Parts: sequence; structure tokens; C-alpha cells
Amino acid sequence: MKLTTEGLKTALLKTADQIEKQKDELTDLDREIGDGDHGINMSRGFTAVKKELEDKDSFADLGELSKLVGMTLIKTVGGASGPLFGTVFVKFAGKWNGKSFVEGDELYDGFKEATDGVAARGKSKAGQKTMLDVWEPFTNALKGDEPLETVIEKALADTKELKAEKGRASYFGDASKGLQDPGALCSSILLRQIAEVLNG
Ligand SMILES: Nc1ncnc2c1ncn2[C@@H]1O[C@H](COP(=O)(O)OP(=O)(O)OP(=O)(O)O)[C@@H](O)[C@H]1O
Ligand SMILES: [Mg+2]
Repeated sequence: MKLTTEGLKTALLKTADQIEKQKDELTDLDREIGDGDHGINMSRGFTAVKKELEDKDSFADLGELSKLVGMTLIKTVGGASGPLFGTVFVKFAGKWNGKSFVEGDELYDGFKEATDGVAARGKSKAGQKTMLDVWEPFTNALKGDEPLETVIEKALADTKELKAEKGRASYFGDASKGLQDPGALCSSILLRQIAEVLNG
């Protein structure tokens, strides 16, 4: 498994298109256990990311690409998820600065740093029905041999049954069980595209 600068860029462009397709679904989920803006927030962010990527001919390395994506998401998404998704890419940039591709431990270390960064920023941990319930299993799977797509599907299904303990969703208490967390679904959209480029 290898992540190149071009591969990450491809995954991000496909993510932007897929978020557009699932924008209403993401917003509807957030209407059930939040304030009904997640699809709108992420669509605004990834539309801006897509524009930035298309406006630039090429990126020197994964660090430069990740930094631009992180800054763009922080500037445009807003809400709780803007700084959290932004943190993912800012952490990638820190780990992968100067690298045109990563594999093995370097690949894992970037995802580990990103997942830990989200947890620190959100004062959250896996098991609380947030995006972390997808990011953590995905990161661990980079060291395992289960297919990444399978891990993502399972994580998403498992997250659904959890009780929300963070953000506005936590106000719903036990009523949040059985509902899909919008940030977890959105993370699965991005990670599925990354898995696709990792699998070549
Ligand atoms: N503390 C946190 N740690 C990790 N993820 C979080 C946290 N708070 C919210 N999230 C994720 O962000 C998503 C909500 O993002 P949204 O764009 O709707 O922002 P928001 O409406 O400001 O959030 P919220 O209502 O959760 O405070 C949730 O589905 C969850 O996955
Ligand atoms: Mg919301």
C-alpha cells in the first residue's frame, strides 16, 4: 500500500464529487441527531478544496497538498467538523512534509497522528459515536490484513449502534442509538476513496 501525492489528490477530488451526491443524506442524518448542517458544511468545504486542487497544476509533495486541504477545510467548513477534518490534513502535512509518497510505517504514522489529533482537538475518543469511530479502526487496519473497505463498512455499522456522547448528538442520549452519525458517514466517504488509491 502506497499513498502518492497524485493518489491523495485523486481521492480528494472523488470525495468532493461523492459528498455532493450524498449532501442531502448527510444533512438529513444531522437533522436527526444534530442541527441539520453537516452535508451543507462538508459540501462547502470540499467544493472549496476541489477548486483549490484544480487551480494548481501540481504539488511538490504530500505535505504541501495536505496543508492546503487542511487550511481550506478549517476556513470554509465551520461547525465542529471544520476544525476536526482540518486537523486530519494539518497532521498529515506535519508528518508527510517533503515526501512525494508514503508507505508502511510512514503511511500508518500519518493516520495515527491525524486520528490522535482529532481526539485531542475534540476531547473525544473512539466509542462515543463520532467520526473517530471510523478513523481509529481504519488507522489500525493499516497494520492488519483485513481489506480496508471491509473495515470501513464494519466500523460504520458498529458506530450506528453506539450512544452519542459528543456534540449536539449527545443531547439525544439513548435515542441516538440506531441512528448513523453524519461525521462518521462523511469520514467513510473520504476513507473509501483513500482505500481505493491505496489498493492501486
Ligand atoms: N468532540 C468531537 N470529537 C469528534 N468528532 C466530533 C466531535 N463533535 C462532533 N464531531 C463530529 O462532527 C459531526 C458534526 O459535524 P457538523 O458539521 O454538523 O458540526 P456541528 O453541527 O457544529 O457539530 P455538533 O452538533 O456535533 O457540535 C458529528 O457527526 C461527529 O462525527
Ligand atoms: Mg451539525
